[in-house]
Amino acid sequence: MNDKFPALANKFYFNYGGQGPLPQAALDAIFGGYQQIQSQGPFGIKTSKLVIQESNLTRQAIALELGVPAGSIALTENVTAGCNIALWGINWQPGDRILVSDCEHPGVIASIKEICRRFQVLIDFFPLLATLNSGDPVEVITAYLQQQTRLVVLSHVLWNTGQVLPLAEISAAIHQYPQATDRIYILVDAAQSVGLLPLNLGELGVDFYAFTGHKWWCGPEGVGGLYIRPDLIEDLDPTFIGWRSLDYSKPDLPLINDARRYEVATSAYPLYAGLRASIKLHQEWGSSINRATKIINLATYLWEQLQQVSGIKCLNQTAPQSGLVSFQVESRNHGKLVQALEDEHFYLRTIVDPDCIRACTHYFTSTAEIDALIQCLTKLIK
Ligand SMILES: Cc1ncc(COP(=O)(O)O)c(C=O)c1O
Repeated sequence: MNDKFPALANKFYFNYGGQGPLPQAALDAIFGGYQQIQSQGPFGIKTSKLVIQESNLTRQAIALELGVPAGSIALTENVTAGCNIALWGINWQPGDRILVSDCEHPGVIASIKEICRRFQVLIDFFPLLATLNSGDPVEVITAYLQQQTRLVVLSHVLWNTGQVLPLAEISAAIHQYPQATDRIYILVDAAQSVGLLPLNLGELGVDFYAFTGHKWWCGPEGVGGLYIRPDLIEDLDPTFIGWRSLDYSKPDLPLINDARRYEVATSAYPLYAGLRASIKLHQEWGSSINRATKIINLATYLWEQLQQVSGIKCLNQTAPQSGLVSFQVESRNHGKLVQALEDEHFYLRTIVDPDCIRACTHYFTSTAEIDALIQCLTKLIK
């Protein structure tokens, strides 16, 4: 499988949670898309039909993987754009509160802080990080809900520790919170879950689920999406609007009555074919359950091997539930170590909070690559 990814030819890659490598099939599809558009005319009737068809096929391919109707998917550029559509689309009232986990990405938190500043909304953080090895995330979240909580923001798979949250239980607990004055919405940052976990969003009971194609799906950077619960289309106002948001079958051009109303205007359409080619490659390898099982088995192998290295401590005290494995080195000079690893062609990353190094396994990572990483780490931290 590794030979299908040109980027993997000359390196030991463990940064799938940052960005996946593009398979050759995706590179070919992207190039083919640009070639087709250029040869038939970048702007013309045939090309206009093509880009609509490409967008439809891409929403359908994504929807199939997530177990939802295509009309609930808006194509975006990345995770953060999807989170912003949900965050800015809520009709905020002064005094509303947003409950956010202490493990969210800085870009998403920055957006929430700006909403708080503009609309006199309050932000509350709940301590999710501490539940990695003990405690119940459902209990912690519900303990922090308040009457004025309007939105809960959390990740499905935590980017810093790899913890997988029991989203269905969390959604049920939040939606049943009896003291709430209004409906409490749930926005999920799905940067680390889409392409990693088998998903059926309908069963999770979440309201907004923002993801990207360029991480675990190994698609091109620049194509992501947002799932919006179909019954919330009227609740969530679009903030950016453009010609792609409109229903041309009606004379007054209203907003389309599905998630396409959150799409705006011209995009790099050939990238869509690239993402579909990546998804197809994964499907050809195996079902989403088999892929996730392999990812987690390889992460477990990595986690076990890391614990054999003296001076290394994994954050997880039990076997990982995802493909992200975070660890600390006694010397604590994680930045320097990651640089030294990259000099030896091993790609990992540092995380600031908690201060650690993160390594990811995909289903096509080999145990030989993991063994080589362990050998290199052992040599470097001696
Ligand atoms: C949890 C999480 N949220 C958001 C992001 C930002 O992703 P994007 O650049 O696709 O918006 C990342 C990327 O590393 C992430 O891990």
